[in-house]
Amino acid sequence: KGGRQFFVGGNFKMNGTISQIKEIVGHLNDAKCDSDVEVVISPPAIYLLLAREHLRKGIEVAAQNVFDKPNGAFTGEISVSQLKDSGITWTIVGHSERRTIIQEANHFVANKVKAALDGGLGVVLCCGETLEQRESNKTMDVVLAQLGAVAKEVKDWSKIVIAYEPVWAIGTGKVASNEQAQEVHHAIREWLGKDVSSEAANATRIIYGGSVSEKNCKDLAKQADIDGFLVGGASLKPAFVDIINARS
Ligand code: G3P
Repeated sequence: KGGRQFFVGGNFKMNGTISQIKEIVGHLNDAKCDSDVEVVISPPAIYLLLAREHLRKGIEVAAQNVFDKPNGAFTGEISVSQLKDSGITWTIVGHSERRTIIQEANHFVANKVKAALDGGLGVVLCCGETLEQRESNKTMDVVLAQLGAVAKEVKDWSKIVIAYEPVWAIGTGKVASNEQAQEVHHAIREWLGKDVSSEAANATRIIYGGSVSEKNCKDLAKQADIDGFLVGGASLKPAFVDIINARS
């Protein structure tokens, strides 16, 4: 599929303990993972170093969030350079839980993407509509407003992975159908071609998130514009390995 490397991220969200993180990491270290797949796990901030320390080479660690200022009086925040200093090479930005619960606005998300890229991190940039927005036919308006805010700040998308996560499919067990996901992924790719560059349209991984499981991953992975997954709940379980190997 355009030579794009399959990408599977595990977003642990606010879950796990020291011993659970060690267990998950140990399991991943021993698992037979398709070596063509880029795998990144994202534990809570307090366990980033622990995960990095125990994880084998070849699997990367992502923060779930980052701040856009380099350092200073920003209580509770973590900078791009602090992540880099800790061996953390990716960050998730703009997850819907942060957009809705913490009320992160599109321009704030865009500033964080820019800061992360400028500092040399890879970015998993999340976008997606609520059920209400989908039902009122606003899906693409919402998604393209989220991505468009980033395109205003960022011209080079080579270190961005776009995660399309329809809010109604997150943690609900209600996965988007293969067609629903493919339709949005395809539209995002068209938008990349138009508003960013044809190179970005060809090369950017667009991954799907929302109730991905070992059962539904294989068919989703066959869709032309689905280049991987961002996995929540199932990333905490052994089934995560089956999702990593969805295409093998
Ligand atoms: O970022 C991953 C995510 O929001 C999906 O969560 O639990 O539905 O796989 P889940």
